Amino acid sequence: MKKKVLALSLAAAMAFSLAACGGGGEGGSDTVANKDKPVVWYNRQPSNSTTGELNTEALNFNEDTYYVGFDANQGAELQGQMILDYIKANIADIDKNNDGIIGYVLAVGDIGHNDSIARTRGVRSALGTAVTKDDGTIVSNPVGTNTDGKSEFVQDGKLEIDGKTYIVRELASQEMKSNAGSTWDAPTAGNAITTWASSFGDQIDIVASNNDGMGMSMFNAWSNKEKVPTFGYDANSDAVKAIANGYGGTISQHADVQAYLTLRVIRNALDNVDMDTGIGTEDAAGNVLSEDVYKYDEATRSYYALNVAVTKDNYEDFLDSTVIWEPVSKQLDKETSPEKKVWLSVYNSNDTFLGGTYQPLLEKYDNLLNLNVEYVQGDGQSEGSVSDRLTNPSAYDAFAINMVKTDNAVTYTTKLSQ
Ligand code: BGC
Repeated sequence: MKKKVLALSLAAAMAFSLAACGGGGEGGSDTVANKDKPVVWYNRQPSNSTTGELNTEALNFNEDTYYVGFDANQGAELQGQMILDYIKANIADIDKNNDGIIGYVLAVGDIGHNDSIARTRGVRSALGTAVTKDDGTIVSNPVGTNTDGKSEFVQDGKLEIDGKTYIVRELASQEMKSNAGSTWDAPTAGNAITTWASSFGDQIDIVASNNDGMGMSMFNAWSNKEKVPTFGYDANSDAVKAIANGYGGTISQHADVQAYLTLRVIRNALDNVDMDTGIGTEDAAGNVLSEDVYKYDEATRSYYALNVAVTKDNYEDFLDSTVIWEPVSKQLDKETSPEKKVWLSVYNSNDTFLGGTYQPLLEKYDNLLNLNVEYVQGDGQSEGSVSDRLTNPSAYDAFAINMVKTDNAVTYTTKLSQ
């Protein structure tokens, strides 16, 4: 008799928990059409890789479509300024061969990625090596080798420090693309610095990189032992740690805030609450972001985290890049935010920033936000390595997409529209 009561109440409990899951539940929603489910593009903004123009159609795919990234121009300016400040503060030691030329090399991530382009421009503009086109934008093409200073893509800059004039020259730059086609490729950067150093190593006074993955590869291959300051971007844990050993500095793009926003927008859309909940407006659990860490641009439906320079003055605060942002670290209530299923892609399983910083953060926030996320990692080369894995969109309630190439949003929206 007792047994039966127990069995009954278990059945009742199960029925209740199924109801609490709403239309979504374990297997995704069967009442909402895939084309109406929330979509968040993150880290790679849908855009034309030749012109940089944003793909507004993809950004407005449905009412619950957003982009989450970081403020590329503000970050690029910070990176350039950080390098310039370093040169000024260390001028006595920087020009190693005393030729009056401060030579730098630059690792470029992806010539068709707006964030990469912004960083190249930021460095050139701060160091005075930028060439401006008729439309007012700065040329971002890699120069190849420019030890003679004759490249049409850059010019020699001039710096006046302590009454002395120095020339600043971009000696070499290259898109770090593997033979198989992976961009932002760290091993390629390690090989490039070795090649450059063997032919004009004594002229290289600074190493700059569009990200830490490539920056650390160059640091480990050459600049660490040569004591040449190396600058990257992302504030990955290994790079921040290396600041103690001479890595020049990096930029935190506030991945802790971006990872939160990536999943939070999805959460809000699924809960049908105001999009600002837990973002600019405190939620019931007490999560809220302050204005100094992000901004929202309505016109592009984009959330952008703000960047912070990480140098020897403050690096100790950034040693672990996988720590979540405290103001948004509180667990949501399962009653009001029941578990939902999310399909999330990472364009390249080898990307140090996405794999070592961003995904570990997402994995912490998904628990707090009651999201059951399926992580799918691509090979960084072919879109199909990611998109072919979206075989059954009906099994998910929402999608967070990091494309292999910024042009390819339509591959995903087509799948969701079928
Ligand atoms: C990061 C890079 C990363 C790239 C991938 C950038 O925001 O800084 O490290 O490789 O995104 O899209």
